[in-house]
Amino acid sequence: MSKTYKIAVLPGDGIGVEIVPQGIKALDAVGAKLGLHFEYNEALIGGAAIDATGKALPDETLQMALASDAVFFGAVGGPKWDSLQPASRRPETGGLFPLRKALKAYANLRPVVVFDALTSASCLKQEAIDGGLDILFVRELTGGIYFGQPKERREINGEHVAIDTCVYSVSEIERISHMAFKQAARRRGRVHSVDKANVMETSRLWREVVTEVGKRYPDIELTHILADNCGMQLLRNPRQFDVILADNLFGDLLTDEASMLAGSLGMLPSASIGDEHGGLYEPIHGSAPDIAGRDIANPIATILTAAMLLRYACDCPDGSVMVRNAVEAVLNEGCRTGDIASSGDKVVSCNEMGDLIAQAITNSEL
Ligand code: IPM
Ligand code: MG
Repeated sequence: MSKTYKIAVLPGDGIGVEIVPQGIKALDAVGAKLGLHFEYNEALIGGAAIDATGKALPDETLQMALASDAVFFGAVGGPKWDSLQPASRRPETGGLFPLRKALKAYANLRPVVVFDALTSASCLKQEAIDGGLDILFVRELTGGIYFGQPKERREINGEHVAIDTCVYSVSEIERISHMAFKQAARRRGRVHSVDKANVMETSRLWREVVTEVGKRYPDIELTHILADNCGMQLLRNPRQFDVILADNLFGDLLTDEASMLAGSLGMLPSASIGDEHGGLYEPIHGSAPDIAGRDIANPIATILTAAMLLRYACDCPDGSVMVRNAVEAVLNEGCRTGDIASSGDKVVSCNEMGDLIAQAITNSEL
């Protein structure tokens, strides 16, 4: 008997409610093809949850997420909730962050792949990405300056100041380093570890620990790179990178930058995984309040996120490849959402893109 996967579906806010159904269409199309069964349970998170219950991460949502085989997430946040105080009540810091923490999803895998059909949408010159581009960011997700305490406002010497604290422990750095080296071993065998060891104490510890862990992976070539230089090198020569290991803050910033190599922020998926739960699957972009409700968002990041869910939560690499190939086929036909369209392309809505990709999965050869 085939297994039924329990998926907690958390669309969240803004375009989250438009893109998540497109990812589900892809999952269902793969399910029908490969005999996988999904039981979806939808719950509120973020601003939508604040409006309905007063809490960005209601207990019911958290319990459902913990009891699931995987969490399929859209996006949270928007101007309506931006000024909520304290920050722990906000959609991001009160919703998504505690969810990541509760699922112990310390490793955020963010692949940056340029589809051939989209090389002209990349912000780089053709020659910089000719021959393809395939980078995997491994971002630490539950520590660092986004989580460290104290995080507050204070009066110091009669002046109003704000404080964020960056903290990393040896064990936190060790486990994310192992993840990066293991991923590199399955790829091209190179890790660039990002830090600001020239100025930050957490970065100096980061560098020491990554170096130590790296000794256990003698076949992997480890390079330390300063975060500012990494930002520049991603534009100058992105093909030098295989796996990029970064802390929470640097990984957040550099992956948004790297998304433009793939053509759009709307193209990048991610899997947030740990050792104890099937993981949280989230596109890297936010809720895009400026385009929400108009059916024009690019659902491909979410559909590729569904592909990561198949790979990591369902151990179904075939399904994952099937989704990726369907995305490629639809792009090769010239169908685009507005963010990745150039002249001559057929511009389709978010919903139409979801249908086209699901149809391509259904039509694909096994
Ligand atoms: C991301 C997002 C989030 C983050 C926000 C929405 C809190 O930018 O997943 O990259 O900073 O982690
Ligand atoms: Mg981000």
